[in-house]
Amino acid sequence: MNIFVFKTSFDASKYAYNLFENALKEGASTFGLATGSTPEELYSILRDSDLDFTQATAVNLDEYFGLPADNDQSYAYFMKKHLFDAKPFAQTFIPDGTATDVEAEINNYNTILDENPVDLQILGIGPNGHIGFNEPGSPFDSKTRLVDLTDETIQANKRFFESEADVPKQAFSMGIGSILNSKQIILMAFGENKAKAVEQTVHGDVTEDVPASVLKNHANTVVLLDEAAASLLDPSDYEVIG
Ligand code: GLP
Repeated sequence: MNIFVFKTSFDASKYAYNLFENALKEGASTFGLATGSTPEELYSILRDSDLDFTQATAVNLDEYFGLPADNDQSYAYFMKKHLFDAKPFAQTFIPDGTATDVEAEINNYNTILDENPVDLQILGIGPNGHIGFNEPGSPFDSKTRLVDLTDETIQANKRFFESEADVPKQAFSMGIGSILNSKQIILMAFGENKAKAVEQTVHGDVTEDVPASVLKNHANTVVLLDEAAASLLDPSDYEVIG
């Protein structure tokens, strides 16, 4: 795991953009995408770029259970707004939050992932170390499933909803095993509220209690941080860029 620290989240996002550009040049065809505030600047840079994804596939990490794609808090809506409307892909996949046959939806998403191996995966991190919606305790070999969100995650994500009661209690999430199948992973974390999760990920054991810690077992993961997210690390843990 190579860790790079930047002055600002925008500088880190530009670096992530360059990794996208290189991956495309080298023939990457499937991109694993994430939602949340962390990748917003990256998506803005991608929207304004001339990179062409019309031959590429996007597979998203997760979706709230119960939210239709036209709900403005759904991750399908987020992706259209922040990336897909401006930057079309040949195909985009995201779990269907309104699926009534949960098992069929899970099987369907696992088949999509088998047929579209991810070349480059973007990840954010939850304050409790979750990746996608793989909460603490998620098995490292997990595949797509319906997960119960922890109170900590509901608290962290309620800022996007009118009230806490509106935050869905479950979500479909790509599993950790599927995430680890990606050839290259970029984990991004910005802001002081991520510093603890970053510190536990970097300094702690590889443990299911801190889902992101498993990335230390992945051969090609880069971690891009701003100074606040890196504030609990030792300078010897990372390289400063810029
Ligand atoms: C959400 C998403 C994750 C995301 C994380 C951090 O729960 N499921 O994929 O990485 O929270 O979100 P943010 O980037 O808004 O801090």
